[in-house]
Amino acid sequence: MARVGGNGKGAATLNVGIVGLGGGASDMIPAFVQHPHIKLTAAADIDPGQLEKFHSEFHGETYQSAEALCASPNVDAVYIATPNQFHTAHALLALERG
Ligand SMILES: NC(=O)c1ccc[n+]([C@@H]2O[C@H](COP(=O)([O-])OP(=O)(O)OC[C@H]3O[C@@H](n4cnc5c(N)ncnc54)[C@H](O)[C@@H]3O)[C@@H](O)[C@H]2O)c1
Repeated sequence: MARVGGNGKGAATLNVGIVGLGGGASDMIPAFVQHPHIKLTAAADIDPGQLEKFHSEFHGETYQSAEALCASPNVDAVYIATPNQFHTAHALLALERG
């Protein structure tokens, strides 16, 4: 993952990647979209239909695994919205990638 970048005017943009595009992500996406310093840059899901929907709405990168998303240089922070049993593994992946 990348480090948070500034624009030289004191306002940094946080590039957020979402892992898991189900109900939990749907609840949070409007808040991300409205935030002036957050950009939704990527999403990962095992469901290709969810990835297509994300890409058509947000034009972000799409990945079939959390691991691949965490390797993107265009992701500063990861929002984990997979089923509960995956949270530890996905959080550790994100931490390992910084
Ligand atoms: N549904 C809600 O309103 C809601 C609200 C707040 C928080 N949450 C939390 O969000 C989390 C997910 O719940 P949900 O209701 O969104 O479930 P969901 O089943 O609706 O969505 C989970 C998504 O994760 C994807 N997924 C499953 N395994 C994956 C993997 N290994 N890698 C990548 N993607 C994978 C699924 O394809 C699906 O799109 C839970 O921790 C839940 O407590 C849900």
